[in-house]
Amino acid sequence: MAIEVRREDRVAVLTVNRLEALNALSSALLEELRSELTAIAQDASVGCLIITGAGDKAFIAGADIAEMATKTPLEARAYAELGQDCANLLETMRAPTIAAVNGYALGGGSEIALACDIRLCSENAVFGQPEVDLGIMPGWGATQRLARTTSLGFAKELIFTGRRVKADEALARGIAQHVLPLEELMPKALEIAHAIGAKSPVAIAYAKEATNRALAGDLATNYMVEADLFSILFSTEDAKEGLRAFTEKRPPEFKGR
Ligand code: COA
Repeated sequence: MAIEVRREDRVAVLTVNRLEALNALSSALLEELRSELTAIAQDASVGCLIITGAGDKAFIAGADIAEMATKTPLEARAYAELGQDCANLLETMRAPTIAAVNGYALGGGSEIALACDIRLCSENAVFGQPEVDLGIMPGWGATQRLARTTSLGFAKELIFTGRRVKADEALARGIAQHVLPLEELMPKALEIAHAIGAKSPVAIAYAKEATNRALAGDLATNYMVEADLFSILFSTEDAKEGLRAFTEKRPPEFKGR
């Protein structure tokens, strides 16, 4: 049972590895995930993060059901807050985050995927919020992020019925941006991650910050923040380099300054 992180240049690949429980997130594993995500969020050399699950069957099969069976309401609250911390880190860290969903993404697994900026999934992927089947409800963000990713009615249908959604429907509903054969999932995720990692990190960070506001807050303020961040970029060496490289008909060399 472990959270494994490997690096490929500016791309970090985080794998949830608990094969015997289809990568279900126990409290201990979730604590480890939060500390790895915190370290990645603080590491300026990471230009993009991919999160995936070990094996070929599951991304993350959710919160740990056996462990939850013993929790008091206060312990359950701490567990919800821990899961929400992980999801919030994925959503707000400067580097874009990609979920490579390689199988079941149920309950907390779906919530971790929904917190990522981009979701790719394999043909055998299954998304769902089956918490009501256990007499509970989502607690790591799905009540908000599923509606914002799809629609309020579709989110309510899934959350109230526990119905599971296969890859094609996930694609049609905007849960996943691409569906791929399992063996092509990680190469595609890496291709996108390296492409993002090659851009100016400050431009990407500000673009993420502005885009994150699209479904929250008031529109006039959000446009103002967009204009502010856009203008701040003009003080960076990367913007000067990117604009100059275009006119000089050569590829830009970004330095993150
Ligand atoms: N928490 C704890 N253990 C889990 C788990 C979870 N969320 N999901 C799967 N596991 C464990 C199973 O208990 C089983 O352990 P065992 O071999 O010791 O009995 C092992 O992982 C393999 O799962 P199994 O159910 O035998 O695989 P399957 O292919 O028949 O079914 C699923 C796969 C994902 C459909 C099924 O495991 C499932 O419905 N899991 C729960 C999903 C869920 O409700 N998640 C939301 C929780 S809030």
